Amino acid sequence: MLKIAVLGCGRIGVMHAANVAAHPRASLAGVYDIIAAAADACGARHGAPVFDTPEEVFASPDVDAVLIASATSTHSDYIEAAVAAGKPVLCEKPIDLDLKRVELCKSRIAGTDLPIMLGFVRRFDPGHRAARQAMLDGEIGDLHQVTIVSRDPGMAPDAYIETSGGIFRDMTIHDFDLARFMLGEEVETVFATGSRLVNPALMDRCNDYDTVVVTMTTASGKQAIITNSRQAVYGYDQRVELFGNKGMVISENHRENQVTRHLNGATNVSAPLLNFFIERYSEAFNAEIGHFVDAVENGVPVEVGFEDGRLALVLAEAAFKSIADGRAVRVSEIG
Ligand SMILES: NC(=O)c1ccc[n+]([C@@H]2O[C@H](COP(=O)([O-])OP(=O)(O)OC[C@H]3O[C@@H](n4cnc5c(N)ncnc54)[C@H](O)[C@@H]3O)[C@@H](O)[C@H]2O)c1
Repeated sequence: MLKIAVLGCGRIGVMHAANVAAHPRASLAGVYDIIAAAADACGARHGAPVFDTPEEVFASPDVDAVLIASATSTHSDYIEAAVAAGKPVLCEKPIDLDLKRVELCKSRIAGTDLPIMLGFVRRFDPGHRAARQAMLDGEIGDLHQVTIVSRDPGMAPDAYIETSGGIFRDMTIHDFDLARFMLGEEVETVFATGSRLVNPALMDRCNDYDTVVVTMTTASGKQAIITNSRQAVYGYDQRVELFGNKGMVISENHRENQVTRHLNGATNVSAPLLNFFIERYSEAFNAEIGHFVDAVENGVPVEVGFEDGRLALVLAEAAFKSIADGRAVRVSEIG
């Protein structure tokens, strides 16, 4: 059993703590949150120790590894502290909102052979993985286009948007990583357009966008198209399409059940989409923990690591620059 401590007991930390506690090959070594009441509630739910300081977590001999699910601004500091203490890391995305801070963190942990895994959970979605495997098995021939549709069910609270770092660093970052995972080669150019259609006043205030399309191209000419909206009235819309010269595979949306209704005046009516990321990607979040355990205990190479987190942020920077400059941006311009 890998003893994992969870740092941060907010929306996603509470979910991770429950997943770790329930995992057959992991146990919850303890929790910490800067808000003691949040940590107390989470620890009590699983009968797990509550740490008073992050230093105690990193120093504890009863903690084999840490899962960083605290606010984004804390990630780099915690990664560095974990590496200094010899503890493997599973860290939520993004590593930081500032690429310079990510580069500094990279230099500070350079040379470590500890597993450092990034929480790009969509790589572990069974549907997305099966679509990718079909492509790798040659079912669609040569891959030409990756199309990712990712729309949230509704706008996050103003306070969240204001500190999110903008849609590309906060939301599209998952899709940048998924696109790289599917393309199998690095992106060379990024062209982005952004609109303020859902909440124009908030977007103006934050200099952000709620509706974006990103087109990316690799050296060999493969294309990836990402479509994001902060609000889809019909629910959490998550689809991935891989198109090649011999066919296409699609990882479809997940619904509350697979029943379709064919009634008088209403045909082919499906159940609603699963509401949001915790429900939609529940299998993936569990598989992510399983992969982390494999990496730490069995030496399996981490499938999505620090450099993937850095490169996704580079693509986010390129997308913002593309909109600002009104042109396609070469990734080499960013770093
Ligand atoms: N993988 C995903 O799909 C996904 C989804 C949501 C959020 N996230 C990421 O997870 C992280 C947390 O997001 P959230 O939605 O749970 O936010 P949240 O605001 O609900 O929770 C963050 C928690 O971190 C705590 N915190 C703040 N500073 C801390 C510190 N120094 N030490 C320990 N705890 C501290 C806060 O008190 C809060 O409880 C963010 O980086 C976010 O980008 C990832």
